This record gives sequence, C-alpha cells and structure tokens, in this order.
Amino acid sequence: MKINLTNTKINKIQSDIQIVLVDKLEDLKEKELLESLDFKVSDEVMVYLPESGKIFVAFEEETYDCLAIAIATAIKKFQTTNFKTAKVDLNSFDSKILKSIVEGTLLGSYTFDNYKSKQEKKKKQELTISIQEDSPSLDNIELNSILNESTIISKAVNKARDMVNTTPGDFYPDVMAKLAKKLAKDAKIEYKIKGEKFLEKNDMNAMLSVGRASIHESKLIHLSYKPKDAKKKIVLVGKGLTYDSGGLSLKPADYMVTMKSDKAGGCAVLATIWAIAKLELPFEVHAVIGAVENMIGGDAYKPDDVLVAKNGTTIEVRNTDAEGRLVLADCLCYAQDEIHDIDYIFDYATLTGACVVGVGQYTTGIMGNNEILKRNAVLSALKSGEYATTLDFNRYLKKTIKSDIADISNIASTRYGGAITAGLFLDNFVTKENKEKWIHFDIAGPAFVEKAWGYNPYGASGAGVRMTIEFLKNIDK
Ligand code: BES
Ligand code: ZN
Ligand code: ZN
Repeated sequence: MKINLTNTKINKIQSDIQIVLVDKLEDLKEKELLESLDFKVSDEVMVYLPESGKIFVAFEEETYDCLAIAIATAIKKFQTTNFKTAKVDLNSFDSKILKSIVEGTLLGSYTFDNYKSKQEKKKKQELTISIQEDSPSLDNIELNSILNESTIISKAVNKARDMVNTTPGDFYPDVMAKLAKKLAKDAKIEYKIKGEKFLEKNDMNAMLSVGRASIHESKLIHLSYKPKDAKKKIVLVGKGLTYDSGGLSLKPADYMVTMKSDKAGGCAVLATIWAIAKLELPFEVHAVIGAVENMIGGDAYKPDDVLVAKNGTTIEVRNTDAEGRLVLADCLCYAQDEIHDIDYIFDYATLTGACVVGVGQYTTGIMGNNEILKRNAVLSALKSGEYATTLDFNRYLKKTIKSDIADISNIASTRYGGAITAGLFLDNFVTKENKEKWIHFDIAGPAFVEKAWGYNPYGASGAGVRMTIEFLKNIDK
C-alpha cells in the first residue's frame, strides 16, 4: 500500500473511496443511515456504503492502538474492493497521530499467501492522507519524517513476519544466514556467518549440541551496524530455532504445530538492525543470532547429558525441549567476548510456554536485573504499540535451577514461574559487567498467534521490532 501525504483539503482530493474515522455520530450527515445499519462507536466496527464510496470506521479513543486498529479495519475492507485509491481526513486530529495511521495501514494491509496455489494478485492501491499544514505541533518536514520513519518500521515488522511465517522446509539455518546476508547488504552493514567448525573451535558446545541431530548445519549470524561517531553500543541477541520439535523430550503433536515460529526472536533482531541502519540511528548496533534446528535422531543430545557452555558453565540437560536457553547461553557469551564496552545487551526469544500462560498471548515478558531499564523497556513497548510487562526475579526461584551434578540444570525443579526461571538461567551467561545492562524479552506469546488481532494478521506479528526501535530512539532523552 502506497501512502501519500498532502495538505490539500479532503474534498479537493480525487479518490475512489473515502475512509471516515468516527468517534461520535452527532456531526455526521449519514448519522441516521449508520444508526439504522447498527453502526456503533466501538473499536473494529465498520460500515461500507458503496453508493457514497465511504468506509466508516469507529474508534473509541485517540490512542495509537484505537486508531491503528480502526485504519487497519478500513484498509482491509478497501483491499477487498477493486478500487485503486482511498483518502482519509486527519485535519481534526493532533498530527502526532500520523504514526498510528501509517503503521496501522502498513501493518494492517500485510498478507501472507506464499503457500496458496492461487495467489491473489497484489493490487496496487494507494491511501492519501490529508493533514493540516499549519498544524500547531508539527510542520510538513516533521510530518514527512514521521511518514518515512513509520514506513521503515512497518517494512521491518513485515519482513520479520514473512520470515517467521515461512515453513521449516523452506527456512532452515542456512536460509536464515543467507537472508541475513541479503539484509546486511541492503542496509550496507557488516556481516559474519559462522558454521559448526567455528562453534566447535570456540567451545560453543551448548548451541552445537542442540543442532546435532538436524540435517541442517547450525549457523551463528553476526551483523553489525557501525555509524561514525556512534553514541552508544547496543547488542541484540536472538533465538533462531528454525524448528523446535522438542528433541528427544519430544513435543506432543499439538504443541509441535506452530514451532516454525521458534525463530521469531532471531527474525525480530534481523529486522530491527535492518531498520536501525535504514533510519541511520546514531548507535553502534550488533545482531547475534543462533540459527539452529532442534530435532531427533541417533546423534541427538540427550536428557542426562552435561554440556559445557562457552563461558565454562556446566549444564545438566534434563529436558531437550528447553533448548532455546542453551543456544542463547552460547550466543550471549559469544557476544560479550567479541563486543566490548556494551551499553545495552538485549535478548529476544520465544522461550517459554509459561510466559504465554502467565501474561497471555499478546504480551511480552520483560526480565532483567535493572528495575529502571525494565520500566523503560515496558514504556517503549507500550509507546510503540506493543504490549509488555515485567516479570520479577527472586532469590527462591533462582535456587530452583541448581543441579546436583553440574553447575546448573536446563530446567527448574518447580512447575511454577517457568518464564522467570528461564530468564534466571540466562542470567548465568551475562557477565558481571553487563548485569545491569541486560534485558531478556520472552516473546513466546505475541510472536505468533493463530488468529488475527487488531492490525496483526493470523500467524507472525513481528513482535519485538517496534519496541526495540522505540527504545533506541529514546535512549538519549
Ligand atoms: N519454543 C518453546 C517455547 C514456546 C512454547 C514458544 C509455546 C512458543 C509457544 C521452548 O523451547 C520450550 O519448549 N520450552 C519449554 C520449556 C520447558 C521444557 C522447561 C516449555 O515452555 O514448555
Ligand atoms: Zn523447546
Ligand atoms: Zn524453543
């Protein structure tokens, strides 16, 4: 969907369809007609009047969520028509809401039909936004920069969605590595791709073991964006399980379906560094992804194995389905060995079903050792349109990952608090120096939802991308 911005009054704009955002019916000349069609001012309510060429869509409050959902609802209707052009009038709004309209449009119009034998032809449709020039808060340059920024952010989210939605037959570690290289070239940033020999040489035995039964070689992906005079250094680490069968602690059939989404952390990190480079943010950013497939076979790693991670920590494997933390353990070590004077180190992972049970499908669990940093991460998430909440560590849960035979166990001895005990496991691989700079994002819920929600489609949502970009944009504030 192409978006145009104009100061032209709405009535002067030629277009096939007009989208009308409605928070009260009173002033509308179509009031009675809409009421007779049971139109109510309630989110996601929409009526299309073909005779007048208008799509009316309701929103309850002037917030990012309400407006992005409203415009997405209207855009989806527009996409079902053969019309080419639509327009929307934002002149009665604060121009700051432009972000929600642009992102709602671009995220809401996303479709994924690569696996349909009869693919819908991608229609070339356009939305023209009419917005006042003499806005009290923003001038034309600022409005255009919001349009540009939100377009890049939405493209990045849609890239993450495409990758996550791609099937495990078509998307294995080498495919992920090649895609990472392509994204790096497009964004003109550095890249390093390492295979199993490197993992072996560098004592990354935990990550190596997880991928051992797969026919696909594990890959360590490292992208770096290094602008001149970078003000801060940020490291993003992603879980890239291109498939998680559970390994020998095999998942039940119903739980295995959707596990192509176990690469969502890695995909989010790739899409985010691409966007940061395109936005030319003044920070050095690294993306480190462990791309691995967790499978079964004679060569599989086993419950009872003891693995030695890159930092020398010994890990008793009690469940091969708790594999993400093993991959992240070595990736966190690699990142901190390779990159010095880090300001922030964030990891992203579809790490635990417990997080989904605890906070629901739509919310990311935020963990770490720094209260202020966690708060700021939650605020950035909410501001960006994502949902997130903190999950607090405590000394008692910390004790539950002790092992009788090794330094730690890869699962807790308690059934409760599984998202937090997984976070506490990762804490063992964050150096003293970086303890307060680290955040773990458990995106197991929002990364992949088997029904459409708001402007998010069935399947991958691109969770993590928007909140991270928002966090980086606010670092200096
Ligand atoms: N990839 C899963 C977590 C997951 C579950 C992501 C549901 C998205 C939706 C992870 O590797 C896993 O299997 N975790 C186990 C850990 C357990 C064995 C301690 C889980 O959550 O059940
Ligand atoms: Zn697993
Ligand atoms: Zn997993």
